Amino acid sequence: MKKRYAVILAAGQGTRMKSGKHKVLHPVCGKPIIDHILDALDQIGVDETIVVVGHRAEQVRSHVGERARFVEQKELLGTAHAVMQTASLLEGRDGTTLILYGDHPLYTAATFSRLVERHRDSGAAATLLTAVLSDPTGYGRVIRGEGDEVLRIVEHKDASPEELEVREVFTGTICIDNRRLFEALTRVNNDNTQGEYYLPDVVPILRQQGERIAAEVVDDPEEAMGVNNRVQLAEAEAVMTRRLLREHMLNGVTVIDPANTYIEADVVIGRDTVIYPGSYLKGGTVIGEGCTIGPQADLTDVRVGDGATIRYSVLQECAVEERSQVGPFAYIRPGSRLEAETKVGCFVDIKNARLGKGSKVSHLGYVGDADVGEGVNIGCGAVTVNYDGVKKHRTVIGDGAFIGCNVNLVAPVTVEKGAYIAAGSTVTDDVPEEALAIARERQVNKPGYAKRLKEKKS
Ligand code: UD1
Ligand code: CA
Repeated sequence: MKKRYAVILAAGQGTRMKSGKHKVLHPVCGKPIIDHILDALDQIGVDETIVVVGHRAEQVRSHVGERARFVEQKELLGTAHAVMQTASLLEGRDGTTLILYGDHPLYTAATFSRLVERHRDSGAAATLLTAVLSDPTGYGRVIRGEGDEVLRIVEHKDASPEELEVREVFTGTICIDNRRLFEALTRVNNDNTQGEYYLPDVVPILRQQGERIAAEVVDDPEEAMGVNNRVQLAEAEAVMTRRLLREHMLNGVTVIDPANTYIEADVVIGRDTVIYPGSYLKGGTVIGEGCTIGPQADLTDVRVGDGATIRYSVLQECAVEERSQVGPFAYIRPGSRLEAETKVGCFVDIKNARLGKGSKVSHLGYVGDADVGEGVNIGCGAVTVNYDGVKKHRTVIGDGAFIGCNVNLVAPVTVEKGAYIAAGSTVTDDVPEEALAIARERQVNKPGYAKRLKEKKS
């Protein structure tokens, strides 16, 4: 099979974004724009990927890392000039090059595959990916001749009034014979309104050499959307969100109100799970089957087991295992693992703690830096006192222990299996297995005292 190369242009300034962050690093559904492109390329398979960097090159390089090789475009003289910078790596090599503009987050791998196939089957020197848009403002227009062949692309700023009427646009993606690409690039000039070397100008150059140019029109014009400013960023986000939700629903997930549900690109959800409105599912969150998520569940990098319920809660970098219940109004922080059938209720904050199978913290409490065994009941208002002002310390609670209401467990401390802590105790020493610990003043009743007090006051 012919070698396949991919070149992603990401050197431009992205002036219209008005941002300290490079445009291709802005996330769409939680994933930087350039990662959407790299992921789609991974799916179709390419032999080599090269990213052209320039403006804020370090940001792009360090983000993309091992996934590509880099060339630098020192002066930003246009898209043809940008591709020219890859000559040191690609010129003279046999194969097909897929050129992509780094500011297009919405392409699918299926579209790339279709483009590559079309290119191979048509025998053209270059195959452009185009789209018919209802509003083509800002894009290069595809000018076709008799017999519909593509003659050239004219940039919006260079177009005549009739050309501006054309609604078919160049999407920034070309599949092109690698040797012919570099031959044509040497002939591109910058004789245009912007004084730039335009990549699409290889089209008329190749034609002059007697080569054929093919074009593949994308089925769904939304895929063609480029991001040049924050308005388009939000539009891309909306398109991607709709697409992701649709996929989840077709995979057997019930989404009660898609317009009020936000799911990032890499989230995985099992069938028969129901997502209620106002939920935010982010990062590498993986949700099992038959779960109830939301309303208002905000999950980042959370692993949720089958049949779990999470309502009105915020969870980060933690695991909630099978049939557990969280919320309403719980906060589960990084490093926490709620094992199967646990229950974490209202106004409970859990941080870096394990809750063993079937354990419960039902209301008002803080469990931090703790290892809680199975079948433990932690009463209302109980707190692990994990911080002495300098260091954090761990609390260990054995299986089947019972922690009464309003107990302070001053760490480091261990409550052994089956022990019982009386309500209101402040526990500073370890409690042995099956023992009862009471660490508070005993109650004294003074008969008639209240009455005498009232008489004295009046
Ligand atoms: C470009 C196309 C236009 C097409 C549109 C699709 C040209 C001349 N025009 O216009 O026909 O309809 O994309 O979105 O190609 N870049 C560099 N180095 C440069 C200039 C740009 O790497 O010197 C990169 C940018 O970072 C960006 C991409 O190339 O990722 C496209 O550049 P941009 O300035 O956004 O081009 P458009 O004006 O959108
Ligand atoms: Ca653009």
